[in-house]
Amino acid sequence: MISAVRADAFVESTAAGPRLTVRKAVMRDIPPILDLINGYAAKGVMLPRTEFELSEAIRDFTVVTTGADLLGCGALHFYSPTIGEVRSLAVDGRAKTHGVGRKLVGALVQEAQEYELDAIFAFTYVVEFFQKVGFHVVERGALPLKAWKDCLRCPKFQACDEIAVLRVLRPSRWMEQQTQSWGAEDQLIRIPTPRRV
Ligand SMILES: CC(C)(COP(=O)(O)OP(=O)(O)OC[C@H]1O[C@@H](n2cnc3c(N)ncnc32)[C@H](O)[C@@H]1OP(=O)(O)O)[C@@H](O)C(=O)NCCC(=O)NCCS
Repeated sequence: MISAVRADAFVESTAAGPRLTVRKAVMRDIPPILDLINGYAAKGVMLPRTEFELSEAIRDFTVVTTGADLLGCGALHFYSPTIGEVRSLAVDGRAKTHGVGRKLVGALVQEAQEYELDAIFAFTYVVEFFQKVGFHVVERGALPLKAWKDCLRCPKFQACDEIAVLRVLRPSRWMEQQTQSWGAEDQLIRIPTPRRV
C-alpha cells in the first residue's frame, strides 16, 4: 500500500469540501507518513526515510488529515538560527490539487516565522508548485553550505538535478546575512553538481 489514505477520503466530502485538520505530527502518524514518503521515494521523486529517522524528526513534521486519514505531510528542519528547510513534503496522489500542499507550506511558513527564521528553502523537482506558494528559484551557492549536509548520503549526489528554491521571511535581516560569510567550518562540504545532459 502506497498510502494510508482511503480511496473514498474525498468522496466523503461535503459541498463545502472535506474537513481538513492541519496539525503537528505525533508518533501514530509515523506509519502513514512512511508509506507516503517511501511510495514517492520508490518513484525517485523523494529521499526515502526510515522509521528511526522519522521517530527522531517527528517534531519537524506537520500533517493534514481528514478523519483518520493522512492526506499529506511536510517538515521544517532547522539548519541555523536563521534558516530552515521545507522537506519531506508529500500529498497523497488521491488528494493532490485540492490545496493540501499549500496548507502544509502555509503551516510550515507560520512555524518558521514563530521561530524567527529569516528564510526557508527547499530542493525540489516541483518548482512551479513552490513558486505558487511564495518561493523563488535561487543559485545553489545562495544557500549556506550546511544545507547540503543530507546530500552526502543521497544516491544522486554526483548527478543532482533538484532545483533550489527560497522564500525570504525577513528581507532586511536576510540581506544583512548575505554580506557575511557562512562560517569557515562549512567550507569542507562539496556542493552537488547539476546533472550534465
Ligand atoms: C508537490 C505537491 C506537494 C503539491 O501538493 P498539492 O496538494 O497537489 O498542491 P496544491 O493543490 O496545494 O497546489 C497549490 C498550487 O500549486 C499548483 N501545483 C501543484 N502541483 C503542481 C505541479 N506539480 N506543477 C505545477 N503546479 C502545481 C496547483 O495547481 C495550485 O495552483 P493554484 O493555487 O494556482 O490553483 C504534491 O504534488 C506531491 O506530493 N508531489 C509528490 C512529492 C513531491 O514532489 N514533493 C515535493 C518534494 S520537495
